Amino acid sequence: MYIGLDLGTSGVKGIVIDDTQTVLAEATAPLTVQRPHDGWSEQDPASWITATEAVLDSLAGQVDMGAVRGIGLSGHMHGATLLDSADQVLRPCILWNDTRSASEAAVLDDNPDFRRLTGNIVFPGFTAPKLAWVRNHEPETFAQVAKVLLPKDYLRLWLTGEHVSEMSDAAGTAWLDVANRDWSDDLLAATGLDRDAMPRLVEGSAVSGKVRQALTSRWGMGDVVVAGGGGDNAASAVGVGIVKPGQAFVSLGTSGVLFAASDAYQPDAASAVHTFCHALPDTWHQMGVILAAADALNWWAGVAGESSAALTGGLGALQAPGRALFLPYLGGERTPHNDARVRAQFLHLDHAMDRAAMTRAVLEGVTHAFRDSFDALTGTGTRIDRLIGVGGGSRSDYWVQAIATSLGLPVDLPVAGDFGGAFGAARLGLMAATGAGVEVCNTPPIAGTVEPVAALQDAFKDAHQRYRAAYPAVMSLA
Ligand code: XUL
Repeated sequence: MYIGLDLGTSGVKGIVIDDTQTVLAEATAPLTVQRPHDGWSEQDPASWITATEAVLDSLAGQVDMGAVRGIGLSGHMHGATLLDSADQVLRPCILWNDTRSASEAAVLDDNPDFRRLTGNIVFPGFTAPKLAWVRNHEPETFAQVAKVLLPKDYLRLWLTGEHVSEMSDAAGTAWLDVANRDWSDDLLAATGLDRDAMPRLVEGSAVSGKVRQALTSRWGMGDVVVAGGGGDNAASAVGVGIVKPGQAFVSLGTSGVLFAASDAYQPDAASAVHTFCHALPDTWHQMGVILAAADALNWWAGVAGESSAALTGGLGALQAPGRALFLPYLGGERTPHNDARVRAQFLHLDHAMDRAAMTRAVLEGVTHAFRDSFDALTGTGTRIDRLIGVGGGSRSDYWVQAIATSLGLPVDLPVAGDFGGAFGAARLGLMAATGAGVEVCNTPPIAGTVEPVAALQDAFKDAHQRYRAAYPAVMSLA
């Protein structure tokens, strides 16, 4: 048996699979995000461990943990977990959707080495500018930094006692030479750090260490290896079998991600497309990232005093977008704008707008943001033939139909069960424990395919053009 642990922004999810990749058990435990200032987003790393312990307790109640041979890790990317020389956490982790380091990111991005070696814009959400912010604003903390770990790699430290990361997550730090899959001494030096502050690197499907004895005896496990794992998007891609050119997924999680696999390193930083290592050797991927996807719907649900499911459940058949526009930039945006200052907008509301119309506007706004990412990705020459839909938001038929229609692509929905980061992590755990290769990363059984609604494609195109025009009109208001 193999365990996949996914440290998501809103909770930890764990699943257990057997050698045939059948899911035997699942468990989740919630997490919260602290936003002490506009644009800030933090989590206490201790809460990740508490949640993971609860998940493992629950899994141990469902299966015989003595049969577990491998664990794989997945986690939200880019977070800066700062440790002192005794591995004590120095401050709350600064998360992927925190944009406080916008000016530090712009300074690093002006240094041409960063785009040249990482293949990416230095976005404020990436790890390196966060360290530059800590150096500028919390120098006494910066002086104590002995190791910088990505969130799932902090879980690994707790599990194995070792400082290790893997290529897909490391690519989102802005310190990795992404073509050569190694830390760049020059980029580290540009933020006042060196290799000693970095974890050792392995591939996602390789062994990174073994679970500590204190933990194996606590949960009745034998010898268990821990795979490198992946950043949540790369791990999800492994889970849904997106490992070759032409294959892509759309993820409607807290963030929104349009992800395409590739067998070569083909960066195009200026497009604001992210080009990262995949969680498998000799493989890369590109993605467009929307900072608030399901997060935007959850925000609106909170305002409306309803659950997201209740708001989206009664929407009926897909409609042509109305005049109202929603720009989902609650905490700024990455692809295609790289704008940390812009904020969300409702535009063109009229007397007839009710809760359902506002909900449609929110779903359409995120859909238009996906169209932006699609244009950015395909503009770099990346081919996308069809999509697999993943993430909590893909349970909304209306939303998936809107995305299929706007992008003009069929969206395949996997059968019930979670083929997200936790499943991909479990697969990587299986690969590390057994030596299996990419052949185990097949596409999951598909429950159904959502086709574009041809009669509405022009209406979505027009609405997207109005959406594009709205951004320059409102960006100066930030
Ligand atoms: C990707 C990104 C998010 C997080 C959280 O660049 O920032 O998708 O990984 O899921």
